[in-house]
Amino acid sequence: MAPLIDPILTVSDLHAGYDGAPVVFGVSLQVMPGELVAIVGANGAGKTTTMRSICGLIHPLKGRILFEGHDISEMPAHEILKLGISYVPEGRRIFGKLSVRKNLYLGAYTEKSHIEVKRRMEELFEIFPVLRARANQVAETLSGGEQQMLAIARGLISKPKLLMLDEMSLGLMPTMVEKMMATITSINRAGATVLLVEQMVQEALEIAHRGYVIQNGKIIQQGSASQLMDSEEVRKAYLGM
Ligand SMILES: Nc1ncnc2c1ncn2[C@@H]1O[C@H](COP(=O)(O)OP(=O)(O)OP(=O)(O)O)[C@@H](O)[C@H]1O
Ligand SMILES: [Mg+2]
Repeated sequence: MAPLIDPILTVSDLHAGYDGAPVVFGVSLQVMPGELVAIVGANGAGKTTTMRSICGLIHPLKGRILFEGHDISEMPAHEILKLGISYVPEGRRIFGKLSVRKNLYLGAYTEKSHIEVKRRMEELFEIFPVLRARANQVAETLSGGEQQMLAIARGLISKPKLLMLDEMSLGLMPTMVEKMMATITSINRAGATVLLVEQMVQEALEIAHRGYVIQNGKIIQQGSASQLMDSEEVRKAYLGM
């Protein structure tokens, strides 16, 4: 029987890399509308390369990427953004010399209506009150956690259909990681489909519906988050149990 709902994102047999040399070898994954999916794996496994391929920063050497049924494999990044995929890269990449507000405006550049942008900014200030308090502060003077929130808020302000988060926990202390994960959960519950990449495997699987384990550029395991957390292999390799 055919599934009732089509995936929002389908990656099939993705081979991707740099200067023609693949580091990702045949990755296939799917994300359903409304899902929160985690890609987990060690340093250098190919998580960021997979994300960069989806959002068009690099193009597949082989394989296909479908978003809402359209082949986006060869599409430039700015067009993919317009289709509704927003990527929050590793390492925050905010504009340090600009204010919080200015950073958010830049994230909303695809939206022409100023009133709409202001409305969305208000919504985001409800989710991240600290950003309202610091709206006029220069972004580089925010704390690490605050910068991470700004990066997520900037990813959300374009109202993406799919929000992709790369390594949100990096450099955050455990209580901040917990807060960040709770925020992502509530953003997902409010309707955003989320694909996230994490080295913090336990934390990511605690909030995800489903997950994929990537190792040396290949998906070695997939399943519901609880299946993965129960898996002997995952527990040994990633959860230190
Ligand atoms: N711009 C680049 N040029 C050449 N090789 C690269 C480039 N970016 C990444 N690589 C290589 O590709 C492989 C996969 O890297 P990738 O960034 O996708 O891993 P990752 O799973 O995101 O790791 P991490 O958890 O450390 O962020 C690594 O061996 C890395 O050295
Ligand atoms: Mg990475």
